[in-house]
Amino acid sequence: MRDINQFTITEAVKASFKTEEGSRLKFLLETFIDHLHDYTRETNLTHDEWMGVLNFLYDCGQISTPERHEFILLSDVLGFSALVDMINTRGGATEGSNLGPFYLDDAPRLDLGGDLGKGREGAVLLVQGQVRDSLGNPIPGAVIDTWQADAAGTYPIQEQASGQDKYDLRAILTANEKGEYWYTTVLPKPYTVPYDGPVGRLLRAGKRHAWRASHLHYIIRAEGYRAITTEMFFEGTDYIDNDAVFGVRRSLITRLEAVKKTDTLPPTEKKPDAKCHFDFVLAPAG
Ligand code: BEZ
Ligand code: FE
Repeated sequence: MRDINQFTITEAVKASFKTEEGSRLKFLLETFIDHLHDYTRETNLTHDEWMGVLNFLYDCGQISTPERHEFILLSDVLGFSALVDMINTRGGATEGSNLGPFYLDDAPRLDLGGDLGKGREGAVLLVQGQVRDSLGNPIPGAVIDTWQADAAGTYPIQEQASGQDKYDLRAILTANEKGEYWYTTVLPKPYTVPYDGPVGRLLRAGKRHAWRASHLHYIIRAEGYRAITTEMFFEGTDYIDNDAVFGVRRSLITRLEAVKKTDTLPPTEKKPDAKCHFDFVLAPAG
């Protein structure tokens, strides 16, 4: 290896790993080394720049805690998370979008027509739609796991110090025999991703803001189908065209409409002021 130079080092590094021939690990590792070395050669990276990258990653590690994963945030603002969501969306299924850091896997149950926004300020929004397969058949009993921010743009889980219940504004509903779901809630406001750490420094260096467009989070599951993690956005709301984590897709935007006296609406615990409609499509598992 003593004749190694900037053109032969890439193959030498790859050959130093004795990964199983034909394995996914070998493919991922070798492709990563190829791209990292190409990037380094292409940019003529200096020592200061190289150390700058390593210190930035060190700072991401230093600020991370079980509640704050700065590397996920980095992945989000670089569009890495969105790209993984995009390439893993299966034919015909609803497009995937950010899971974000505020999901809890044990949300309370809510009956169809129940109110998720209990006692919170803000207009009452009826969210309704159907869960279907890619051929348009309803999926009875599909499970709708949802969580969201409030009308001030905060997640109750972030406000536990001021006495909020972390399970507020999150629920699991079961679609009816026609795959339909409906419930009322409050319209969430946009909020900022955490920007008091290294990722915030990166955003500021790039003259970028930290705002997310107003959204509702969902995981939709049904037996025999591939679960989807996605978000619903609202036409005409702030940051819809420049969401800080690239979560918005045209197909995930719904319209908010005022409820009219003449509207035929499903039965709800609370009378809605506004409504929106969104159908989820699941692709078969496997
Ligand atoms: C969220 O949508 O909850 C979120 C996504 C990325 C970073 C922070 C929050
Ligand atoms: Fe969110």
